[in-house]
Amino acid sequence: MALAEITGRTGRVYAIDSDPLARDEVAAVAAAHSQVLAITQAAEDLRLPEAVDLAFCRFLLLHVVDPALVLARMAGAVRPGGWVVAQEPVTSAGRINGRPFSMPSARHPDVGAILPSLARDIGLITADAWAEAPASAGPGPVADYLELVTQVDPGDDPVVLPPLVTVVAQVPSG
Ligand SMILES: C[S@@+](CC[C@H](N)C(=O)[O-])C[C@H]1O[C@@H](n2cnc3c(N)ncnc32)[C@H](O)[C@@H]1O
Repeated sequence: MALAEITGRTGRVYAIDSDPLARDEVAAVAAAHSQVLAITQAAEDLRLPEAVDLAFCRFLLLHVVDPALVLARMAGAVRPGGWVVAQEPVTSAGRINGRPFSMPSARHPDVGAILPSLARDIGLITADAWAEAPASAGPGPVADYLELVTQVDPGDDPVVLPPLVTVVAQVPSG
């Protein structure tokens, strides 16, 4: 929805998820944004009706079998000179009450740590990359956010969120 706000009424946002339930959720919220098209598709098979300016993912590559393949598919969906932005965590560097955070359901829980090299290895030109990790002393927005994205409830314990690595990279123009 944030991307739809940026593109405005003349742009288009393709919201891709392999889970049809996620598609339905996006479609319901997107009812107010006619430029958002929710599509059920595996990222490994990403195929859009047109080349896009930007492909964005967050908390996706940690779940897929082959993160490099999915990043390459995203790059392939972008026009020459367009952008790929990915945000993925280094899960084990997070802390709950000082103890390392673990997310056994993720295939690649620390994929954020190799995100810059994944982008380079598939031929993207990295314009910027950074990591950020908000922390909190107990209940509040940081703990709520952790529970929202990982389904792990830290209760009253202090939290250092798993660093989220962002890579902003360009598809070569020619
Ligand atoms: C943690 S959620 C993403 C959360 C959201 N991007 C955010 O930042 O709040 C991960 C999503 O990736 C989807 N997913 C997992 N594997 C996928 C794949 N191979 N292709 C497309 N979507 C996939 C899941 O269905 C799920 O909706």
